[in-house]
Amino acid sequence: MSKSPDSESRMEKIVSLAKRRGFIFQSSEIYGGIGGFWDYGPLGAELKRNLRDTWWRTMTRDREDVVGLDATIIMHPAIWKASGHVDTFADLMRECTITNKRVRADHVDPQSGTVYKFVGAFPSKILFDLDLAPSLPPEFWARWLSRFALTEGKQLLHIKNLLSEGLISQHQEPLNDKLLTKEADKIHDSILWMECTVLVPAGKPIESAQKIANEFYQSRGIVNARLIESKYSGEKVEKSVDFHPETGGLLNEARPFNLMLKTYIGPTATENDIAYLRPETAQAIFAQFKNVCDSSRVKVPFGIGQIGKAFRNEVTPKNFTFRSREFEQMELEFFIKPDEAVQLIHGSVAVWSEGADLSEPQPNWGWEMWHRYWVGERTAYYAGIGLSSEVLDYTWQTKADLAHYARACVDILFKFPFGTEELEGIAARGSFDLTQHQTHSGKQLEYFDEELKAACDKLTAEQKSTFIAEAYAKRFNPDTTLEETMAFCEKLFKGLYIPHVIEPSAGLDRLALAILANSFEEEVVTDEKGKSEMRTVLHFHPRIAPIKVGIFPLLKNKPELVAKAREIVSLLRPHMAVFYDETGAIGRRYRRQDEAGTPFGVTIDFDTLGEEKPEFKNTVTLRERDSMQQRRIPIAELLPFLLSQIL
Ligand code: GAP
Repeated sequence: MSKSPDSESRMEKIVSLAKRRGFIFQSSEIYGGIGGFWDYGPLGAELKRNLRDTWWRTMTRDREDVVGLDATIIMHPAIWKASGHVDTFADLMRECTITNKRVRADHVDPQSGTVYKFVGAFPSKILFDLDLAPSLPPEFWARWLSRFALTEGKQLLHIKNLLSEGLISQHQEPLNDKLLTKEADKIHDSILWMECTVLVPAGKPIESAQKIANEFYQSRGIVNARLIESKYSGEKVEKSVDFHPETGGLLNEARPFNLMLKTYIGPTATENDIAYLRPETAQAIFAQFKNVCDSSRVKVPFGIGQIGKAFRNEVTPKNFTFRSREFEQMELEFFIKPDEAVQLIHGSVAVWSEGADLSEPQPNWGWEMWHRYWVGERTAYYAGIGLSSEVLDYTWQTKADLAHYARACVDILFKFPFGTEELEGIAARGSFDLTQHQTHSGKQLEYFDEELKAACDKLTAEQKSTFIAEAYAKRFNPDTTLEETMAFCEKLFKGLYIPHVIEPSAGLDRLALAILANSFEEEVVTDEKGKSEMRTVLHFHPRIAPIKVGIFPLLKNKPELVAKAREIVSLLRPHMAVFYDETGAIGRRYRRQDEAGTPFGVTIDFDTLGEEKPEFKNTVTLRERDSMQQRRIPIAELLPFLLSQIL
């Protein structure tokens, strides 16, 4: 992905602010960091917690039809076999043949330049050991032999010829064949025959390729390497995707690389003890579907939501926290009736068309209405935390892109500084997951729908036959046989089915990054005296801001002001995150909070004490971060006002 300098520097500024103000740190930084792992500092931890809370509240507590789950990170490995992750959760990956650094096959930025190929190298020392023509210094032989080009299968002969030519070129007596062979053997045996192919960008000399090749051979035991160039060296290439973008090394063939992180359970650590750190939270929801149904009096349609850590051994973690190896997901599995069940109960299925009313779920909705409904709900959620439709985009997967069982999938994208990328995926997954777990576990995961049973009990045998014929004609998967359709319908007539699923799946860390990127602004502000300065501000929505209000006594050496300010802190702290700051000029204190994204500032001044203007007694200055407007507000009104903004 090509990035404009502006977006690159914007991203750099965001990363730098994130560290400077304690939002996000590199994990294990004092040991040099660890790729794809990030820690959240004091402000980041609050931001993430607030985002997590908004998701949980919107998706579970505020709804009657969704319940929560908090499952373990490590589960029975059979779950990942059933879900398909063991066999298919892989990225195609290519490895740099020089450094072994890996890159996702579809993430290789095209490179142009000159390709230098080396077929091997030998240690300089060997040249000092040559018995032939001691009058010719090792440097002569080094130059002469560097002309060596691989002649497949004939290397020994080739070296012999070179040595002979070298001697003749110096008017030396040709050696006898036995001696030549002995010397050629010495060189041949000391050569490390390993190819090293490296691309250097246009304008850079061959020496930069040689430097990389030297390191390559030295790391494999060749001391003071003498490189042997291939006769195909020096080729120019344009926009090639065969070289590692960072190292310039040739990439090997793409190979699938499973992204699940493994661990061992118990002390023996054998193949039989392998377990996986979950690569998504979703599977626990499917695995606990029956327990939730049995314990919670839920009725389809209903959802189970979960927030928690997920782990993926990403080949190329990149773009700050965007693609990490440890991250948090916020997933909902919303279980709905198969369209055939809706048809049997309601006589028809509401299907989506442009302008369809999605405001309130209806009993006759089919999967497409539910899918569109959740796209709308999730979009409204993002708007509610400050991500308007202007910064979002949508990609609908085409039929060809969809997994075989999926009916639809849309990605909600955010316009990150490094490009428009996925924030959340919303998939209509049919009954795939529960069916898989039912097959692999041998446990019944069918749902008994009383309403469906009651509706089917009223059907005649003829109506049932007609229904089966229609269901077969309308089947989603053309490979489904008539027998399978009949078995499915017979179950339906008894009130049984495996629910279908709509899955809105969002990444919490990606969301935090989107929020940071969306909120970040540098603006030039001019004060009343005409002095201009740069203000860095994070325009967080008050609902998710890490600190809701800064409390500032005008002067720290006036005990009455400090006492009043402390009183206000005690009033607000039980309800929200408050930051007390008494040091520095008041303007500086405002700026510090602007940078932390604190939406409100409260200043306690002499008017608050009512010393000169009794009408202002017990009022404070309330400053609003985005407009920088200030107004007086009675202390008694502070709490209700702030609560109205942050809830
Ligand atoms: N259960 C479906 C599922 O896991 P996904 O598209 O692979 O779908 C869902 O992941 C969301 O999880 C993504 O939209 C993204 O926000 C987040 N996510 C996935 N991989 C991530 C990674 N390596 N780093 C950060 N977030 C990631």
